[in-house]
Amino acid sequence: MRVLLCLCLLVPLAALAAEPVPRSHDEHSWSEPDKVVIRDLGLDLRVDFDKKEIRGSADLALEWKDPDYRVLVLDTRDLSIDRVLGKRADSGWFRLRWELGPRDPVFGQKLTIRMRKPYESVRIRYRTAPGASGLQWLEPGMTAGGKMPFMFSQSQAIHARSWVPLQDTPSVRYTYSAHVESDPSIMVLMSADNPPQTRRDGDYVFRMNQPIPSYLMAIAAGDLKFKPISTRAGVWAEPPTLEAAVAEFADTERMIQVTESLYGPYRWQRYDLLILPPSFPFGGMENPRLSFITPTVITGDKSLVSLIAHELAHSWSGNLVTNASWKDMWLNEGFTSYVENRIVEEIFGVEQAAMENVISLRDLTDEMAELDDADELLMHAPAPGRDPDDLLTDVAYVKGMWFLRFLEQRIGREPFDVFLRSWFDRHAFQSVTSEQFLAQLREYLASLETAPVSEAELVEWLQRPGMPASAPEAVSQRFAAVDRVRAAWLKGDVVARDVDVSNWITQEWVYFLDGMPDELEGSQLVELDEAFHFTGTRNGEVAMRWYPLAVRSGYFEARPSIAEFLKSIGRRKLIGPIYEALAESEEGLAFARKVFAEASAGYHPITRASFQAVLYPKAD
Ligand code: BES
Ligand code: ZN
Repeated sequence: MRVLLCLCLLVPLAALAAEPVPRSHDEHSWSEPDKVVIRDLGLDLRVDFDKKEIRGSADLALEWKDPDYRVLVLDTRDLSIDRVLGKRADSGWFRLRWELGPRDPVFGQKLTIRMRKPYESVRIRYRTAPGASGLQWLEPGMTAGGKMPFMFSQSQAIHARSWVPLQDTPSVRYTYSAHVESDPSIMVLMSADNPPQTRRDGDYVFRMNQPIPSYLMAIAAGDLKFKPISTRAGVWAEPPTLEAAVAEFADTERMIQVTESLYGPYRWQRYDLLILPPSFPFGGMENPRLSFITPTVITGDKSLVSLIAHELAHSWSGNLVTNASWKDMWLNEGFTSYVENRIVEEIFGVEQAAMENVISLRDLTDEMAELDDADELLMHAPAPGRDPDDLLTDVAYVKGMWFLRFLEQRIGREPFDVFLRSWFDRHAFQSVTSEQFLAQLREYLASLETAPVSEAELVEWLQRPGMPASAPEAVSQRFAAVDRVRAAWLKGDVVARDVDVSNWITQEWVYFLDGMPDELEGSQLVELDEAFHFTGTRNGEVAMRWYPLAVRSGYFEARPSIAEFLKSIGRRKLIGPIYEALAESEEGLAFARKVFAEASAGYHPITRASFQAVLYPKAD
């Protein structure tokens, strides 16, 4: 792999820039959008907690790009298809022939529907599997309230196909409506309009009249109540979590206003947050009009609310202007990380934004030390056969963001803001490629008297591994103080309980721990614990750093709290480093497997699969 890549790096710059690899096809979908596309989806579903299934029908309104084509290919994963019907405007429903292809572990099953005429609507009656990769079904005991069950979807990247048969590619956009039935005591929400005053009666209708890609399809059901933050923003959560969430995320409306002033109006009407149970596998998910949010960022001091800035920013970068395939993911995540940091800077100040940048840059550097060169490019060649969940690294997020920071620095903040706004305006409700961004950027640079960025620099940022030498730096004053404290403590010049940490926020604790040696003495860990109470912390960002340090240092006192943490949280980023540290020794691995056996029933299918692979590697 590396050898091949080195060879291709010898290709002259001009050739690389002028002849990009053809990248129009999304290799993660079986569908054929050059032949036919879905324009509207109508769902009629029932959420059945007893069977852990969603069943009903999906009506697809089709636009035939090739009028002679007679085949509709859809993506599915573990769906049971009952029947498929087709309809033309001037006719009734007809049964259509269909077949499911062999099951691919990553991409699922291709559903091929054959027809004699180009039907305008196709209706598929189907049901989901209890283990659907895009859904999690929680017993009441796994929720905050403990009384009612909960279900939620996570469709990105290619899990929508496990609960709706569709063209599961971000290059296709469609509007949708849904009628969803459930037990009357259960509230159902979707990535659509969710009027705050909706009566909880088990019969709900939704409409999303702005075209969205399939990965933004979302549904959640549980004991959910609403509280407003402003007239257009609010929080949905289980009752025990609602007040704390509203207080933590009180700045949401200000965040919307800041982003609007930079990049134009918020175009999705309402912006609500849905607080999920702690087993939610991600920090957040930008489902349109209703971001899904982990409860693990509710710390009481707003120190982790940049997550909200991030998910909100996707309303411009991602939901409005969407990467056409997952290999262009930096167009979603890099742009969003950039916008997120601008929001944080505006609302919480330059120092807070700087601290977050120092931390994410360090994460990127650490990660790149482990990655293949090919995975460090922003614009990478198609990776057929690879699970897009495996492409999820800090490269798209942090390197992507620093590329925009670099452009901002060279072009100047104000003109760059105007440029970025024009990117969002020109491609609103469209799916875009890296080549399109590059073309618009080149056109802009050519319009300037002297180009502030060279072609070679662009190639270096987009098509070379590593971080370019031209990358701006991140510096934080508050972290310089943390560095001094850590160094003095490690030298033995100061004892932990004498350090004044009264004003420290999460980022300072994170940075304090990130800079520790790989292992500490048992007595040092005891001293830190007595002074700062790391073991048993409720702050996941601290736990995900402290527990691996404790594991590597053989600090067994932390083990009961580690087990408890791993059993109560399902967010992959927080528990991953702990499982990985445990898996490094035989004894640790045995402990980890025991905890995993008890915890995994409460994990999301995605979380379960990723740690199964860490604890039971194939070679075993
Ligand atoms: N869209 C992502 C989550 C995602 C990415 C899910 C790829 C599946 C595949 C979301 O916006 C995100 O980036 N979440 C981050 C938080 C963010 C502050 C970096 C997360 O969940 O950690
Ligand atoms: Zn994101």
